[in-house]
Amino acid sequence: MLAAEVDAVHQRVWQAVCHYWEPNSVHGHGPDHAVRVYSMGLQLAAAEGADPLVVGPGCYIHDAGMRPDVGRTGHIERSLQIASALCEEMPELASVRDLLFTTIRYHEAEIAFPAPLPIEAVCVRDSDTLDRLGFTGIRMTLQYGVWIGRALCHPTDPLCCERTPDLNRFTMDYVRYLESLPQRLMTPLARSNSKEKQKQHEFYCSEFLSSFRQGCMRNHEDALQLVMLHMREEFHVA
Ligand SMILES: [Fe+2]
Ligand SMILES: [Fe+2]
Repeated sequence: MLAAEVDAVHQRVWQAVCHYWEPNSVHGHGPDHAVRVYSMGLQLAAAEGADPLVVGPGCYIHDAGMRPDVGRTGHIERSLQIASALCEEMPELASVRDLLFTTIRYHEAEIAFPAPLPIEAVCVRDSDTLDRLGFTGIRMTLQYGVWIGRALCHPTDPLCCERTPDLNRFTMDYVRYLESLPQRLMTPLARSNSKEKQKQHEFYCSEFLSSFRQGCMRNHEDALQLVMLHMREEFHVA
């Protein structure tokens, strides 16, 4: 298939699924996450020789099954159902249906997979993981924390230095947990890109701690303002 034809398939997939993503901005998994994962996923596909006909739709569908009422719960099954319906409508996807399902089923870095994982699934998974790191990942985690009604941080150990992370209780414990994800990346390009993300993460945590000590980090709103400020600065530098 020509590159222009592959691109046309991607655009049709996006038009078919973007309405699933839009309401999920409420917990940080809106269309911006889909678009970033798609863009990085295609870069990884080019570097790894993976089929973009599969990687592009995999990125655009992977979290489409999230919902504004139940969030992440059951989202992979719902994303698979969305993919299945789309394969019925789009003959171009029918021949790559099983591979597309594999990219969605194993897109999250914590999910065990049967080896060897096809390279197309590796690209979608690494791209999603990269977006969970650095400023973008911290922002998603904070927004999810607001939505789910979790406390921002432990009152005396805000960065979880002396405890086992309590992911359901404190958003900043989840932010610290994200530091364990880079070691799960599988492609050289994603590993190399994660270094900048890790620097963003360290920078954010140190700024967070100094604001916390000054009494200026009172809630998720303060924590979100800090990350949004740095995301805007990074955008202007770029
Ligand atoms: Fe997901
Ligand atoms: Fe995702």
